Amino acid sequence: MTQFLANKHILLGVTGSIAAYKSAELVRRLRDAGAVVRVAMTENAKRFITPLTMQAVSGNPVHDDLFDLNAEAAMGHIELARWADLILVAPATADFMARVSEGHADDLLTAVCLASRARVAIAPAMNQGMWHHTLTQTNLQALRQKSMIVLGPASGSQACGDIGMGRMLESTEIVEQVSALFATGALAGQKVVITAGPTHEAIDPVRYISNYSSGKMGYALAQAAHEAGAQVTLISGPVQLPLPMHMQVISVTSAAEMHEAVMKQMSDCDIFMAVAAVADYRPQTTSPQKLHKTDEHMTLQLERNIDIVSAVTNLPNKPFVVGFAAETENVVEQARAKRTRKKMDMIIANKVGDGCGMGTDDNEVTVITAEAETVLPLVAKQKIARELIELIVQEQKAPDEKSTHPGYAR
Ligand code: C5P
Repeated sequence: MTQFLANKHILLGVTGSIAAYKSAELVRRLRDAGAVVRVAMTENAKRFITPLTMQAVSGNPVHDDLFDLNAEAAMGHIELARWADLILVAPATADFMARVSEGHADDLLTAVCLASRARVAIAPAMNQGMWHHTLTQTNLQALRQKSMIVLGPASGSQACGDIGMGRMLESTEIVEQVSALFATGALAGQKVVITAGPTHEAIDPVRYISNYSSGKMGYALAQAAHEAGAQVTLISGPVQLPLPMHMQVISVTSAAEMHEAVMKQMSDCDIFMAVAAVADYRPQTTSPQKLHKTDEHMTLQLERNIDIVSAVTNLPNKPFVVGFAAETENVVEQARAKRTRKKMDMIIANKVGDGCGMGTDDNEVTVITAEAETVLPLVAKQKIARELIELIVQEQKAPDEKSTHPGYAR
């Protein structure tokens, strides 16, 4: 069950324990599960395993100095704190536990832990005497109270010859437990249908009309919905993305095919997310043979495609419907109007351009419902996707059960 790690940004903190030799293996296992890993090492960690090893296995430069101007210019501790979906400190020494529980920030790793909104998980590793010491146990309680996740330790023979508690968990066990942290279960028992990517509207056997949609946002939402425990059906236009696991994927080409595939899924659908950039028009006729150039000018007659999301919102038993509005100007105003016109429960307004929107890895969006507007600042589409799922879960709740989201209200 390591599938929830796909595309997750894991900052692996390595501190000075003999178990640090296992951290390289841990990076490999995390990456095998699809995570993107960056490594932050303390000075003492470097006595046990070299930064070169960690750089080679992670595929990213190692972060080790809070005060290195060059490193801070490339990706400083605040960027690192923002980048991480999860901070995993493995091995975590007794000293690290003590320092982080007191809120120290005198090296890169503790500073990132303090600066980040991401969850922090630690895999302690130390001599059994140090583990059982009252001070360590007091620090452990303090860390748990501060919502830090503690993985292990295991019991067994130790590097120093002792036998007892304090061994770092095996890499495979850590990866399983870290993966499970991303499974929220918030959409358990619900069927979610998502359209993603562009559509291709054929002109002739070798040409089509389309747009720049990459499918990344829709695929990220499908993954996030799966992590939330939903049964996911992804209806995808033609994209260059790896086929996601653990969900039903229906590949389509044109808007008409997408419409047909969506309608077949609606009888038991709880949430429909229209993320696809469906072509508004298609050629009135598709030539069975390749068209050849003759005149200086050519006219292509187009006809409107069916609006899939409106077809869904007009169903008598409509699901909770979420749409997207990718716009280049008056983004929020246009999205508000579109939400009302298409009778959607929620619309995500998405500016295209300036590093956002179609084809990019990052997005900044405004989430609009009948009652509220929430801005989710520019971050990776995977992160936006998880935040959107949280908002949808909130939206489905009764008004008195709703809590506020860390995004900021307009
Ligand atoms: O009108 P516009 O294309 O900007 O609306 C965008 C929203 O409507 C998106 O959620 C998109 O997936 C959906 N849509 C659709 N069918 C269409 C056109 C748009 O479902 N033919």
